[in-house]
Amino acid sequence: MSNAANADVLELTDSRSGSQYSAPIRTEGPEGDTYMRAMDLRPIKREASEFGLLSYDPAFMNTASCRSAITFIDGDQGILRYRGYPIEQLAENATFLEVAYLLRNGELPNQTQYDSWVHDITYHTYVHENIRKFLEGFRYDAHPMSMLCSATAALSSFYPDARDIQDPQQRYISTIRLMAKLPTIAAFAYRHVKGLPFIYPDNDLSYTENFLSMIARMSEPKYEANPVFVKALEVLFILHADHEQNCSTNAVRAVGSSHVDPFSAVAAGIAALYGPLHGGANEAVLRMITDIGDKKNIPAFIESVKSGKGDRLMGFGHRVYKSYDPRARIVKKLADEVFAQVGMDKDLEIALELERIALSDDYFVSRKLYPNVDFYTGLIYRSMAFPTDFFTVLFAVARVSGWLAQWEEMILDKEQKIARPRQIYIGHGERPYADGLSEKFPKARKDSIRK
Ligand code: CMC
Repeated sequence: MSNAANADVLELTDSRSGSQYSAPIRTEGPEGDTYMRAMDLRPIKREASEFGLLSYDPAFMNTASCRSAITFIDGDQGILRYRGYPIEQLAENATFLEVAYLLRNGELPNQTQYDSWVHDITYHTYVHENIRKFLEGFRYDAHPMSMLCSATAALSSFYPDARDIQDPQQRYISTIRLMAKLPTIAAFAYRHVKGLPFIYPDNDLSYTENFLSMIARMSEPKYEANPVFVKALEVLFILHADHEQNCSTNAVRAVGSSHVDPFSAVAAGIAALYGPLHGGANEAVLRMITDIGDKKNIPAFIESVKSGKGDRLMGFGHRVYKSYDPRARIVKKLADEVFAQVGMDKDLEIALELERIALSDDYFVSRKLYPNVDFYTGLIYRSMAFPTDFFTVLFAVARVSGWLAQWEEMILDKEQKIARPRQIYIGHGERPYADGLSEKFPKARKDSIRK
């Protein structure tokens, strides 16, 4: 194996053959991340005809799939930064569209750049009338994530030029269209389920005000959003904008690596986010709290979680954070502001008590299970009158900014190829075909089909 002079190396001995190998230990980035390349294992083999040593890592527990400059997380310290900026500072000072610009472009925008970015997104908020008709075709009780996922995939058929992913202009306009149209589709999905007329975008309003207008406006000529709700949505969108290589981002990158158009790749991300272990968790938290029903039922619920017989404590635990999720801290403060306006309710009391008990219980403490971002977001969304099954849609509307930034980075990364993992085959060895159908499916009939 080749290695640069004086560089750090991992010395390996293959006990099967006694052969010695050395693999470079690489250090990169401001935090000094160290890694080895999995391909450096490939030369390890007994005979030239062998494939070589594979690394086996189900669920990517210890595998980096890319080198990325977008989001940094330190799970032990509870740190989250976008492009180097601490999430706390962005949540306090930036707008969501400023953050979306930052994620895609690497730097915060100046006024001219911001104005042009906001203008472009604002003037692409309308969707083709056929998308509206498409949404009207769903059942009255369709889950809004199914509607969002399908309509986003359908957008691909309206913009065939988006397939030219090597053209920077096409990538830009697709990004603008997805950022602009997802809130419209989300709001239409909401109105469809409620049986309310669709409200078209109002380009005089900000991104979040317009979204709230499409959700809530009735007969008033101009919608005036509650400023506490606008601020809450801006902050929640910023917190949800990106989270490095999570399940849905990995889905967008993996599907996008086939060089399909970004609408299709983002639809894959929405599908991944829908799952209860990912974005669906905020919905699951609310259902869990409703099931618990009363503070007095909490000890029995916690016992059932700990026994492994009941459900997990939803909104707790994280693959990366092994301390308090920094987003959860911000969300908890935001919840105080929103509840000061709309009033405290029984469910928030249950949530606070659940958190208090879990944070002092050895089961959760020893496993480093802390509240994640989803523990309080559902409570805020519900106090803003969003239905429970709409929470993940709100997550998706925000996360599209991160998906697109990650997709663009992947497309421009010369090292990336189509994502195609290896496997450890554990099935049968070769065996001859044995026909088990012959009684009901005579050979003569089969032969005629096979002709
Ligand atoms: N409640 C009870 N026990 C838990 C929980 C939980 N929420 N999460 C993990 N554990 C236990 C788990 O049973 C295991 O225990 P043991 O070692 O005795 O077998 C241990 O903690 C490690 O769990 P894991 O499943 O190996 O951890 P993971 O990194 O694979 O899972 C997770 C991460 C987020 C899927 C998991 O913590 C979980 O299911 N949490 C609840 C769902 C949730 O809130 N998801 C939102 C994640 S944040 C937003 C997002 O990413 O979309």
